[in-house]
Amino acid sequence: MKVTARARANIALAKYWGKSDDALNLPAVPSVSLTLDPLVTETSVELDEALADDVFELDGAPAGEGETRRVRALLDEVRAAAGATTRARVTSRNDFPTAAGLASSASGFAALAGAASAAYGLDEPLAVLSARARRASASAARSVFGGIVELAAGAPGDDALAARPIAPADHWDLRVVVAITAAGKKPIGSRDAMGESRRSSPYYRAWVEHGHASAPAIARALLERDFATLAPLVEQSFLAMHAVGMAGVPSVLYWQPGSVAAIKTIGVLRAGGLEVCATMDAGPHVKAVCTARCVGDVREALARTEGVRDTLEARIGPGLEVG
Ligand code: DP6
Repeated sequence: MKVTARARANIALAKYWGKSDDALNLPAVPSVSLTLDPLVTETSVELDEALADDVFELDGAPAGEGETRRVRALLDEVRAAAGATTRARVTSRNDFPTAAGLASSASGFAALAGAASAAYGLDEPLAVLSARARRASASAARSVFGGIVELAAGAPGDDALAARPIAPADHWDLRVVVAITAAGKKPIGSRDAMGESRRSSPYYRAWVEHGHASAPAIARALLERDFATLAPLVEQSFLAMHAVGMAGVPSVLYWQPGSVAAIKTIGVLRAGGLEVCATMDAGPHVKAVCTARCVGDVREALARTEGVRDTLEARIGPGLEVG
């Protein structure tokens, strides 16, 4: 039995950063994201009686032990739900550069949740797939759905927590321009970095409190297609998240000179009347969120910005596709 599923990356406008329950991987703050097209991960799960253990191949090469362990953990959950023991061969391919810092784990675990569930013969609702993707990587819970998606904060122990779509992909024609500002691997992944923030940043409590107020406000501005309200809220969310990390010990500083330059370019464009705002995830790249009519000017200005090596464009896309 072999099943293939596709899921897309997503970009959080209200950021998730910090956990309320490490074992169940529950977020301490609510988040709101756009599912992005065409940043697709395609994952196949094939059951194979001959395998002694699961095998995971990523972009044509055997994946590392850490990645394989996270994939196996998700497969173990699916096997438990299906009452199965057969091991699986998992093949995953990202059609976007991993170096673009576009959290391939979100699309990857969403696609895996869909493909694995179907391969083991389960017919589960999207909320169950989203909760399973969440346990693997919380941002992946959101990539199960298309359009504008919300993931609530989880109370410790709330293992059923799943994301939910709050508007379809065609609700508002927003675009995202990614300004790539560095090559190579980032210094620390989001999971470890947010753990550091919780342990050592003096701003962590304030961040959690702020997140609970800012995510619903961001969701409302998206639903009302109110860019003037949305832009400062989105920028405050990512700046607060990065400030928490920077103030931890050890400090987590993802920014490169090109990141700062890109943020400044976006600020100048907005002051000049364009509907655009900045956000960043756990990496040095800057993502400009803008309305469709502004995207040409935004991309051109970012491409001309010193320290920006390349740009990439996305729009709001659909959720998980299985089969
Ligand atoms: C900055 O979902 O990668 O992209 O749940 O530990 O796997 P884990 O973390 P992950 O964190 C994403 C953090 C972020 C913000 C976001 O996507 O909301």
